[in-house]
Amino acid sequence: MSEKLDLLNSKKEEALKGGGEKRIESQHSKGKLTARERVDLLLDEDSFEEIGMLTTHRSSNFGLEKQQFLGDGVITGYGKVHGRPIYVFSQDFTVFGGSLAEVHAKKICRIMDLSLQNGIPLIGLNDSGGARIQEGVVSLGGYADIFYKNTLASGVVPQISAIMGPCAGGAVYSPALTDFIYMVEDSSFMFVTGPNVVKTVTHEEVTSEELGGASTHSQKSGVAHFSVENDLRCINDLKKLLSYLPQNCEEESPKYPYTAADERREELNSIIPDNPNQPYDIKDVINSLVDKDSFYEVHENFAENIVVGFAFLEGKSIGVVANQPAFLAGVLDIQSSNKAGRFVRFCDAFNIPLLVLEDVPGFLPGTDQEWNGIISNGAKLLYAFCEATVPRVTVITRKAYGGAYDVMNSKHIGADMNYAWPTAEIAVMGAKGAAEIIFRKDIKEAANSEEKWKEKEAEYAELFANPYNAAKHGFVDEVIEPAETRKKLIRAFDMLKNKVAHIPKKKHGNIPL
Ligand code: HXC
Repeated sequence: MSEKLDLLNSKKEEALKGGGEKRIESQHSKGKLTARERVDLLLDEDSFEEIGMLTTHRSSNFGLEKQQFLGDGVITGYGKVHGRPIYVFSQDFTVFGGSLAEVHAKKICRIMDLSLQNGIPLIGLNDSGGARIQEGVVSLGGYADIFYKNTLASGVVPQISAIMGPCAGGAVYSPALTDFIYMVEDSSFMFVTGPNVVKTVTHEEVTSEELGGASTHSQKSGVAHFSVENDLRCINDLKKLLSYLPQNCEEESPKYPYTAADERREELNSIIPDNPNQPYDIKDVINSLVDKDSFYEVHENFAENIVVGFAFLEGKSIGVVANQPAFLAGVLDIQSSNKAGRFVRFCDAFNIPLLVLEDVPGFLPGTDQEWNGIISNGAKLLYAFCEATVPRVTVITRKAYGGAYDVMNSKHIGADMNYAWPTAEIAVMGAKGAAEIIFRKDIKEAANSEEKWKEKEAEYAELFANPYNAAKHGFVDEVIEPAETRKKLIRAFDMLKNKVAHIPKKKHGNIPL
């Protein structure tokens, strides 16, 4: 028996070495942790159970049979994060550059199946040179198997990807099908075709970092939801994100202990500037409303005119969507509609109630927006809110103009409770624009047209630049003192916690993609 145990132990030791000391050193010299170090950091102590540690590839192409590494370049298994189970795969760049081939893909598919079957989140730590070139089309098939399973699992279990090294070619589409993407600055990149192909085809000279680094994808394309400075931060942030999420679509997010304090927030009574054109930071409002230090922003540096993220309200997870008057006056455009629409759908899929803070002057005008499809892109956000069945509460802090009023979780599209602050302006458009259209003739005929403009503008503002017309129609349920908002929200979400919503029977809707 002891000989057999020795054999087992020596195989395990071999597997733990990955691609060997030299390649591990090379990985460390790039500021990267190894696949195993990442798994250790992610999981609670002594909770990891590895699956498929002793697998090897079956290829003999190009002398591959002489290069056997136990595990075949990916570590797979399950463990716990803050006491809750998760499945994880972690690609090992020290083995064939973490490249994906038949067995490597099968290992990932196996834990994807288990994740779906058992309703447990899936975390992918990606660090790979892509399809293993020696195994050819088998590698492509492996990717497609993963894409298919990503899609089946979408909306059933949370799927989170961390890009901690290269991720190129079709490989990018597995992370893109998951719910959230983290990218590590300076050591990760994602692109469909790399700088060399770009140069050949378009004659553009671009570096990997410019083309598909963490800053590019977290600021320009929005492909990455989070850009983090190193592996350690990446894993810690990913664990934080999990704390807001349920295990699957049948469950609620965990409730954390919370001791009620004075729920009034006096600072909110003076947060809106007297001048309606002056910006303020909506994040100050969010931080004042939710449990202390609990707001975790998603897509912080992309489409900053809308703010989205998770927070706790009395220890319960909520999703926050808020127009940001401090950036482009909080206007809705293509990118912000996509950003918020996808976030709303995630929250709805995973039973996370939605809080919407509204201060929106409308949709962004211009040829750029129209020609690139603000109509169908804006419709995505509208669609996402319309079909969301989780508890939905809106607070209109200031502007709620035009179509954007309807889109931003209005009562008409299914919001459950809508509040307005006394500073709210709910109307078809701003007073100046409105006066220019409806009083043009009167003003033209007046002797002193400048004075008449001002008079008519004031007339319109008095009638509509307030929350009381909307309240009269029941479009807002209550006009509230800002300092009381947190208390109102806690009570409203508590009142809505057993919400049952009926949607018509259908195979699936047809969101304007
Ligand atoms: C097999 C690979 C590999 C691959 C890297 N390696 N990529 N082996 N298949 N795709 C191996 C290298 O041979 C090397 O082995 C080790 O991994 C480390 O690679 P280096 O080049 O030394 O590392 P580095 O300088 O850091 O460069 C990393 C890299 C580069 C940028 C990823 O290796 C690279 O460009 N690789 C090829 C990427 C690629 O074209 N992949 C196919 C993409 S197409 P040793 O033994 O020396 O340690 C694709 C299609 C997917 O993926 C489609 C899905 C639908």
